[in-house]
Amino acid sequence: MTSQFPPGGRISGARLARLLGGWRHSGSRRGASDLADALESQVLDGRLPVGTRLPAERELATALGVSRTLVGAALDRLRESGLVASRQGAGSWVSAPAGGRVGRRDPGADLELLDLAHASPPAVPGLLAAFDAVRPQLGAELCDHGYSARGLPVLRERLAASYAARGLPTTPDQLIVTNGAQHAFALVLRTLAGPGDRVLVEQPCYPNTPEAIRAAHALPVPVAVDPVEGWDIAAIEAALRQASPRLAVFVPDFQNPTGLQLDAESRQRLGAALARARTPAVVDETLAELDLRATPVPLPPLAAYAGEWVIMVGSAAKTFWGGLRLGWIRAPEHLVEQLLAARHSLDLGSSVLSQLVLAELLADAGPLLRQRRDDLRAARDVLADALREHCPEWTFRLPVGGLSLWCGLPEPMSTRLSVAAANHGVQVAPGPRFGVHGGLERRLRLPFCLPEDRLREAVRRLGLAAASVRSGPRGVDATVV
Ligand SMILES: Cc1ncc(COP(=O)(O)O)c(C=O)c1O
Repeated sequence: MTSQFPPGGRISGARLARLLGGWRHSGSRRGASDLADALESQVLDGRLPVGTRLPAERELATALGVSRTLVGAALDRLRESGLVASRQGAGSWVSAPAGGRVGRRDPGADLELLDLAHASPPAVPGLLAAFDAVRPQLGAELCDHGYSARGLPVLRERLAASYAARGLPTTPDQLIVTNGAQHAFALVLRTLAGPGDRVLVEQPCYPNTPEAIRAAHALPVPVAVDPVEGWDIAAIEAALRQASPRLAVFVPDFQNPTGLQLDAESRQRLGAALARARTPAVVDETLAELDLRATPVPLPPLAAYAGEWVIMVGSAAKTFWGGLRLGWIRAPEHLVEQLLAARHSLDLGSSVLSQLVLAELLADAGPLLRQRRDDLRAARDVLADALREHCPEWTFRLPVGGLSLWCGLPEPMSTRLSVAAANHGVQVAPGPRFGVHGGLERRLRLPFCLPEDRLREAVRRLGLAAASVRSGPRGVDATVV
């Protein structure tokens, strides 16, 4: 309900200008709609409580150093949306729009919550057809008990064929089908690392990787991946020598969150270093199919250089659908037996239905994957354009693959921004989530997995949230005088 009368105190023009702090200086041609957005974000963040009486237009214009017309036009917009109410003689005040809630609120209380926290696209369009296609095969499976710790032979054969096509001869016996890549990694950890063991891990990295290492009572040891320079192979070589890790884990293709790809020369050097140090490495290829260049540039898998020392982990989650909950492990055969033994106490196999569907998808994956890459490339470009428009001070490199932009923020504010973003109906994972021990407050991962119109809207809201976080020196509160 619209407030009929201003019950609250008055905020001075000077204080409101301070609250709006960075607004004026964060763009060269800022207009009435930008000022309206900035004021709106102060209201949504609760810094301008409902009922607060606003300064006169002339006073605010002077304090902001803009024309009175611009302030008037901004207030008109807010009146239209119901965030400001005015009455002759009583001035203007912050108002609650009809039916809406403003101020600090539950995430998504009155906005559709837009998810920029998960880097996972919806299912490929061919998935339903694959479910239909496997229906006739189900009859035979239903006559069996449905448990298979290794995974269905037909699926392992198709996975083996796809490794062979990449130049890595593989037998179905080297493969175990798992319930996703995360499950696969947990199985490897359980088999190869114990309490107190060190496990080398990239930083930044997929947050559930160090989580899994800690859950195995092992210690994650970070090695930096620079957003521009990429992997520092000399530092990894030194860490392999000095930290004597029991295991290492790398995402060389379209690393999450940076989107970087390890170059061919570095793969060779890294492979040689692993073999020399006799350190097994998990190579997580969850994102490896998501090469977004017009013509994909596949590089030799790390296993081509480190043979027995590399355990490869794959996933159907990003290429086809996360809801299939399927991944796999490619390991030397002697290790497969140990992995299977470790599995028995965890779970007894993966869904037969999902496996049949994945085998069906792999029978002719080319067109589906091309479509996936085209869609993601378009979404990546929409996200980049929206950021240039709404968050012009943020920096990023357009990734050649993967699912996200790894943005640089103008100040260490990622956690604060994620809180403000939730109040604007956008869910994001702040930079520290991707650090092994936190940090990374100047970074934000933004996936491009939403439909394009939602991506644009999410970034528009993020721009508002960022302005609300940045506006005014820290410590200025909204005390109404
Ligand atoms: C690098 C990496 N590994 C593993 C996973 C988890 O994959 P899954 O859904 O197959 O368990 C993800 C998901 O985002 C990921 O980015």
